[in-house]
Amino acid sequence: MIRQERMTVVSQREIAKDIFEMTLQGQIVQEMSPGQFVHIRVSDLLEPLLRRPISIANIQKEAEEFTIIYRAQGRGTKVLSQKQVGDEVDVLGPLGNGFPVEEAREGETALLVGGGIGVPPLYELSKQLNAKGVRTIHVLGFQTEEVAFYEEEFTKLGETYYVTDDGSKGFKGFVTDLLNELNPDFNIFYSCGPLPMLRALASMYEEKKGYLSLEERMGCGIGACFACICKTEEGQEKDYVKICSDGPVFEKGVVKL
Ligand code: FES
Repeated sequence: MIRQERMTVVSQREIAKDIFEMTLQGQIVQEMSPGQFVHIRVSDLLEPLLRRPISIANIQKEAEEFTIIYRAQGRGTKVLSQKQVGDEVDVLGPLGNGFPVEEAREGETALLVGGGIGVPPLYELSKQLNAKGVRTIHVLGFQTEEVAFYEEEFTKLGETYYVTDDGSKGFKGFVTDLLNELNPDFNIFYSCGPLPMLRALASMYEEKKGYLSLEERMGCGIGACFACICKTEEGQEKDYVKICSDGPVFEKGVVKL
């Protein structure tokens, strides 16, 4: 169920260059699952309608807290990055359909591949997979070392590899180059990141079961702008889907990438 709530900022810190981690407290945390996102009103004063869709990175139901990791690049997210502990933020959510954790079984191995700001939702997903006895391998791609984050957090959960465009951290190249070298053994994969990366993965692992989050293609996040419409592959129920409301996570082979 989608709800709207004024949530309290519990922490806010810059974890990499222009990348912020913010934790918020409130009741709607109870409804959240990995891969879903929230719609945050960044300011009550300047432009009350200015909202930003941001994915959920970490859920702590007992504490009624959840964490987002976002890049402060546009006006909206810059305003958000200036919020202080104790401030209130208007949050709408949780939105969208997330990653199906139940598709991985106990004792199996899941490969999680993230690119840039597509990495955060994989953290909560990995936590939940590990909690049910699924082994996780993380392959995380970033442009450079200075925008990479959460190494300690992912490493605690499973084997973790970093890939950067310039080789400043971990392997140099694309995540798919590293995967070609690693040739990991796994049962299912989950991924979130830029479209070319998702496309390359889907063709590389054609035979495997996989779920892709296309959140990069999102605009308004609430079904109003039509920026997120995507054509589906032949034989699907619908010819088009909306990333924000039908997704952002789809099984591989549903959306034409
Ligand atoms: Fe605007 Fe989907 S993001 S309609």
